[in-house]
Amino acid sequence: MRKTIIAGNWKMNANKDSVKSLIGGILSGIGGINSEVVVCVPFPYLAQVESLIDGSDLRLGAQNLNINPKGAFTGEVSAEMIKDFGVKHVIVGHSERRSFYGETNTVVAEKIKAALDAGLTPLLCVGELLEDRETGKTEAVVEEQINAVIELVGIDSFNNIIIAYEPVWAIGTGMTATPEQAQEVHLFIRNLLGKSSENIAQKTPILYGGSMNAANAAVLISCPDIDGGLIGGAALKAEDFLQICRAG
Ligand code: PGA
Repeated sequence: MRKTIIAGNWKMNANKDSVKSLIGGILSGIGGINSEVVVCVPFPYLAQVESLIDGSDLRLGAQNLNINPKGAFTGEVSAEMIKDFGVKHVIVGHSERRSFYGETNTVVAEKIKAALDAGLTPLLCVGELLEDRETGKTEAVVEEQINAVIELVGIDSFNNIIIAYEPVWAIGTGMTATPEQAQEVHLFIRNLLGKSSENIAQKTPILYGGSMNAANAAVLISCPDIDGGLIGGAALKAEDFLQICRAG
C-alpha cells in the first residue's frame, strides 16, 4: 500500500512573517493527518522553516539543486547545502525550470542523480504542454522525460524517487485535469515503470500537480494510481493546504 504524500511547492512566494504564520497554521492542524506532508520552500527560508518544524511530522523540501557537489558556480546551491538544513525532499524538473531555465531531460536526470547521490528523495516532475495534449503526444512526452532518468540512474533508484505528474496547462491556471485525464496518465506512468520492474511500479508514489485545491483534492487522490499531490497556489494558505492533506 502506497502512502499518500502531499507536498507544497511555495515557488518564489515567502517572507519571514508569512513563513512564520503559514508554518504555524500548518503545524496547528497537522495532528491526526495520515498523509506524509512536505513543504518545499525557497532556499533563504530553509533555516527558518527547519527550526519552526523541529520535532514535528512536517518534512522540509527544497525546489531545486545544482548537479555539482561544490565549486565555482556563482548563485547555485548544492545537495549537501540543502541537506545541511534538514531537507529530505527536493523538487527536480518542475515545468517552470524546464521552460524558464532551459532544463532539458538530460539536465533533469543529472539533477535526480545529484539528489540521490546525496541521499535526498527527489520529486521528479513530468508533464505535457497543452499543444502536446492537443496533438496526442502526452504519453510520448512523459515517456521521454521518465526514460531519461531511468537511463541515467537505473530503475532501482526509483525506490527513492517520487514522481509528480503535472500537466503544464493545469499549473497555476485553475484548469485542473479531470480525475479521468489524470488517472489515465498516472496509470501510463506506472505501466511504463512496470516494463522495467513491476515491483518498482507498484511502490513508486505518483503525485498529481496542477491546480489541485481543497475542493478537488479528494476526488483526484481517490483515483487508484494517484498517490497524493504537489500543490502550488493552494499550499500558501494553511487551511486550504490542511484540507488537501486531510483528503489524502
Ligand atoms: P499549482 O502549482 O497548484 O498552483 O497549479 C502546482 C505546481 O506547480 O507544482
